[in-house]
Amino acid sequence: MNKKDALAFVENYLTKERFEHTKRVAETAVVLANQYHVSEENAEIASIFHDYCKYRPLEEMKRIIQTTYLPKDLLLYHHELWHGPVASVKIEEEYGIADDEIKSAIYYHTTGRANMSDLELVVFVADYIEPGRNFPGLDEVREMAKKDLIRAAWMVSRNTIQYLMQKNNRIYPDTFYAYNDLTRLIHGGN
Ligand SMILES: [Fe+2]
Ligand SMILES: [Fe+2]
Repeated sequence: MNKKDALAFVENYLTKERFEHTKRVAETAVVLANQYHVSEENAEIASIFHDYCKYRPLEEMKRIIQTTYLPKDLLLYHHELWHGPVASVKIEEEYGIADDEIKSAIYYHTTGRANMSDLELVVFVADYIEPGRNFPGLDEVREMAKKDLIRAAWMVSRNTIQYLMQKNNRIYPDTFYAYNDLTRLIHGGN
């Protein structure tokens, strides 16, 4: 895949700010990929496309969820959760990328899930810690990402759950599954 072409392609679908975020996620993901022995190219492609469906009309995203293999329970949750799964479908249709690992990293970048691959963890963490982000607790995650990818991802899922609960938002099950699975990996237990 040509990186320049891919960036030019996604730029059409993104705001200026979101495009800048996308490039920073890709750069961050490449660093993490090298550090944790994940394919740099796959981390870069997944990052470039991770948000590219964020601004699709809600009706279009809804239709894609309804008419493809995507789980229908997504429709019961906030539409902010739709753009990852939808992008994992559209990237194949619109850009010919059919690699399941890349598609999964895009699919789960917002929620995480149980048994995440290293590539999924890299994109999940990179999206959260890219240098343009700034909110309380972020430096702790950035520091951890230099030492331990699993623990950094665990912090991301913990922080996300805490944030959503503070706002009295509902939480998609995969977010809990990610947290539980990462907690088990770190602390053991059933
Ligand atoms: Fe996203
Ligand atoms: Fe993002």
